[in-house]
Amino acid sequence: MSDEIKKGLAGVVVDYTAISKVNPETNSLLYRGYPVQDLAANLPFEAVALLLWTGDLPTEDELKQFQEFERAHRALDPNVKQAIDLLPTDCHPMDVGRTAVSVLGANHPKAEDSSPEAELEKAKALFAAFPAVVAYDQRRRRGQDVVEPNADLDYSANFLWMTFGEEQPEEVVDAFRVSMVLYAEHSFNASTFTARVITSTLSDLHSAVTGAIGALKGPLHGGANEAVMHTFDEIGIRKEESREDAAGRAKAWMEDALAQKKKIMGFGHRVYKNGDSRVPTMKAALDRMIAHYGRDEMLGLYDGLEAAMGEAKDIKPNLDYPAGPTYHLMGFDTEMFTPIFIASRITGWTAHIMEQRASNALIRPLSEYNGPDQRELPNG
Ligand code: ACO
Repeated sequence: MSDEIKKGLAGVVVDYTAISKVNPETNSLLYRGYPVQDLAANLPFEAVALLLWTGDLPTEDELKQFQEFERAHRALDPNVKQAIDLLPTDCHPMDVGRTAVSVLGANHPKAEDSSPEAELEKAKALFAAFPAVVAYDQRRRRGQDVVEPNADLDYSANFLWMTFGEEQPEEVVDAFRVSMVLYAEHSFNASTFTARVITSTLSDLHSAVTGAIGALKGPLHGGANEAVMHTFDEIGIRKEESREDAAGRAKAWMEDALAQKKKIMGFGHRVYKNGDSRVPTMKAALDRMIAHYGRDEMLGLYDGLEAAMGEAKDIKPNLDYPAGPTYHLMGFDTEMFTPIFIASRITGWTAHIMEQRASNALIRPLSEYNGPDQRELPNG
């Protein structure tokens, strides 16, 4: 392979961004200059969304105004409900999310308006509308009906309310909020890059987000949070099992999986080689959920897998590893985990769409041909 070919674009810097900085050397991640851990510790997700879009933390008034907008736009759109109802309840929920964004785009009065004002308005509307899609899809798979939004609750609390039809304890809402902040943005990852490629052709915002959802679905990217739970299921979750016993079984499973040269989902990262900067914050949220639900055996499985992977290959967990079991404990079905990731990453994607639009160049790399030499069609 020619030295010029960078398979997977590994190590290639393709553009500037002012939205986030991933620094694998210092194991840090900044959104618009602020450490993500500090944002997760202190801010509602709505404030982080505004930060990503506008570049600055909102004033109290700006945040209040946006929270009112979000409350006014969070009910399940009837067109979207109709479209979702056409889809089988056993299709992948990422297909539902992708379809919903397409329908929202086709119905948005400013769908083709790419002015900065219209783009921001569409980003905010998508942010507000998407939780109802996840919540309804989760419910219909359980044979349940739509739960109308609760105007007394903020974004995170209402997301859980619309999903489970009950207000959740404060610590559960908080762990969910933390996950939303951590999943929001991560520079030129595969789905964000997809959104930027689509935007670079001067296509519209909803098309770019729809494409990004397709990229996020794969298990090498967002689909890993779901895949992590499949690993836990394969090992077997035994409520009431001691932490030590669960860790022992997890360790044995990992040794066997690695001996078979399996890729272990939730471990490794293209950029971070010494651990994902978001993991400690998400792991702390998982620990709080394990304590809240009294599920020590989950910690055993978690620690057992992590330790065995560390010993065998020195590969560290990524954000999907603690996020998967956290959503499981909250009561989400496994296949709903990646759609939750969409709800969060809509913020980062749309911030990048606006940034790409502001200084656009068509993204069109080259390839080196290695097919047959020029030849002639057979006679006749
Ligand atoms: N399990 C087993 N081995 C692994 C893993 C893993 N999860 N990750 C990396 N390795 C090994 C590879 O087999 C390879 O070994 P080799 O050199 O002996 O062939 C070496 O480590 C390098 O791995 P690559 O896949 O080449 O590294 P790359 O940077 O391309 O991959 C990736 C990064 C795709 C994330 C990889 O670590 C992976 O597949 N992980 C599992 C999927 C996952 O968790 N994705 C979520 C990403 S984070 C996010 O989306 C929030």
